[in-house]
Amino acid sequence: MMKRFSFLLLSVIVLATALSAQVYLDPSAPLEERIDNALSRMTLQEKISMIHAQSKFSSPGVARLGIPGIWCTDGPHGIRPEVLWDEWNNANWTNDSCTAFPALTALAATWNPDLALLYGEMLGEEALYRNKNVVLGPGVNIYRTPLNGRNFEYMGEDPLLASRMVVPYIKGLQSKGVAACVKHFALNNQEYNRHGYNVNLSDRALYEIYLPAFKAAVTEGKAWSLMGAYNLYKGQHACENQYLLKDILRNEWQSDLCVISDWGGAHNTELAVPNGLDLEYGTWTNGLTVNNKEYDSYMLAEPFRLGILEGKYTEEQLNEKVRNVLRLIFRTSMNPNRGFGSMVSEEHLKAAREIAAESIVLLKNEGGLLPIQSNVNNILVVGENAVKMMTVGGGSSQLKVKHEVSPLEALKQHATVTYQRGYSSGENNIQDNVDFHEQLSDPRTAEQMISDAVEAARKADLVIFIGGLNKKAHQDCEDSDREQYNLPYGQDRLIEALLDANPRLVVVNMSGNAVAMPWAEKVPAVIQTWYLGSEGGNALADVLFGNVNPSGRLPFTICRQLTDYPAHQAGKETYPGVSNGQYDELYYTEDIFVGYRFTDLAGQKQKVINQKLKTKNQKPRTPLYSFGFGLSYTTFLFGQAQISDKEMTKSGSLQVQIPVTNTGSRAGKQVVQLYISDLKSTLPRPLKELKAFQKVELQPGETKIVTFTITDEMLRYFNPDKHQWESESGDFEALIASSAADIHSRLRFSLK
Ligand code: BGC
Repeated sequence: MMKRFSFLLLSVIVLATALSAQVYLDPSAPLEERIDNALSRMTLQEKISMIHAQSKFSSPGVARLGIPGIWCTDGPHGIRPEVLWDEWNNANWTNDSCTAFPALTALAATWNPDLALLYGEMLGEEALYRNKNVVLGPGVNIYRTPLNGRNFEYMGEDPLLASRMVVPYIKGLQSKGVAACVKHFALNNQEYNRHGYNVNLSDRALYEIYLPAFKAAVTEGKAWSLMGAYNLYKGQHACENQYLLKDILRNEWQSDLCVISDWGGAHNTELAVPNGLDLEYGTWTNGLTVNNKEYDSYMLAEPFRLGILEGKYTEEQLNEKVRNVLRLIFRTSMNPNRGFGSMVSEEHLKAAREIAAESIVLLKNEGGLLPIQSNVNNILVVGENAVKMMTVGGGSSQLKVKHEVSPLEALKQHATVTYQRGYSSGENNIQDNVDFHEQLSDPRTAEQMISDAVEAARKADLVIFIGGLNKKAHQDCEDSDREQYNLPYGQDRLIEALLDANPRLVVVNMSGNAVAMPWAEKVPAVIQTWYLGSEGGNALADVLFGNVNPSGRLPFTICRQLTDYPAHQAGKETYPGVSNGQYDELYYTEDIFVGYRFTDLAGQKQKVINQKLKTKNQKPRTPLYSFGFGLSYTTFLFGQAQISDKEMTKSGSLQVQIPVTNTGSRAGKQVVQLYISDLKSTLPRPLKELKAFQKVELQPGETKIVTFTITDEMLRYFNPDKHQWESESGDFEALIASSAADIHSRLRFSLK
């Protein structure tokens, strides 16, 4: 009897041990238990292998334990084509052509969080199909200067807009079991000397302007990974930065995500080990062209392992990183609900087109040129961007698409269209192994191209110029900044000449940045459009011919000239930085006055301006087009706004309501924007700040009541002395607006 009992007991123990052995493989077990269980089975070498790259975009798991490795991909607008194991060059696969979604500037310009969710979901499906578990994006670095070569990959100048758009993107993507890797954390606001500038700014600017979108991505979007930036902050590279990664990300935001280095962003084992870098990629490369295969010599490879053996580092420091990497794997590749995805499906293309069309911003529409009526048939299209593939180039975000509909191709489906190049960027038609199918170099002189275009313009019923920037170096492109605010390749002169020849001119500017528009006052119709992805041409044609009523709104301010941006008013210290012998020091002296927060001060007394700004005697000027601005083919009327009370307590809230009516004859969408103004404050504050927005669709004649809830959180500023957000009692105004310059109602209330 006794013998049988012991046997039974032994069997139970053996079974229990066997079961506990499987905890890390049991998806129903609590995540942290699975992580600890897996970790307890790993050797030192296995742990070290897991926290650095084995190829350009992958790092190993533990094959012995059935734990898959990590496969990253750029990001953020589509799934990048496969590159060779150790090189940046394309591997020339034939099954990796993707859907290109519109660039993130375009997504931001929709001001439609539902579309950001859709974007993330569709992108996630393409990532699944390619068996990737981390998409390197989205990027939410704030638009500080229009020269930044990478603004097209980000979400504009306003922290609230970027926050509200980034959260659903991440949720959509991660709902598919694919991790977002929000980037580039933080203060990566220019490309010039991107590995070697150190940002100096106040805590207020850091917390009020540059961090909120990251914070929203991490704390609300619950991003599973984050990429450190290349630049330095407080003298430490961002990928091994104690302040950003330990103090803020881990301690203040309490995040359990995995910190991934930018490719070549890690520099120093002694800093990378204690300061929060978990996973190292691309070391000793420049992130674009330079290759290096010395994976064992990475900061978190042999130097770390030997350091542990010598007692310089502890194994617990290693375990902490491995836990973060395992968490990422369990959430993605080992997620039992992860599907197989699909690539370039009808649904993806439809979403890409819808997002693209909704992002297009109508800036000016006089003389009834738009939408193009069916009797206008003899249309001349001028400009290289009508034919150039825009999914190619731009750096790491470039894509290999199954197809890209060019504007010219799409317009030809609607009317009789002839084409003149008008200017040439002189580019080759083959770039990164992608054939543009369009010869971009032109044997004619610039003069000849202009005069040919002008002659054709004289005979046309309507001229549509489609130009702007492109994704070559020094335009909208990674690793370099623009060198001028004006359009390149003589486009300003060409536009003036076309206008002289035919006043029925529509200018379509395609870019990810604001450009100078010296002709804007004279040209009757102006459209701001972006890099719109696979369905870009169709989306543009949808808007030009009125199948879609434009409802995009600017995610950044368009100033008249470069020096109207505060980053360009105070010399090299504010842009692009000055050398201290070791690296460049860059000072954000405009502080919290970025974008409309600065241009709003135009027209204020110099004394008021001087009280607000750190640099004295600055001259803010009214912009050409304001943040949040965009027209429609219909008209909207804002009715009488109402506020639920005149007073509010810190724990209470107020309701603001406004009726908005479509007074035109077409259905359309309006973006109702709520700004808050603190009428008296101890510290300088912007005249107003965006705090909420809603996009509403209205049928002709229809009225909808838009409701906003004002909470204490919307009234706060960052108090640097106390290192906390707080609000001050006193008077405020709620402004209901359709752009930073078009305010329809001001409602006063006070905070007790
Ligand atoms: C870029 C990142 C990108 C990475 C991998 C770097 O050059 O800064 O945004 O994700 O390369 O391609």
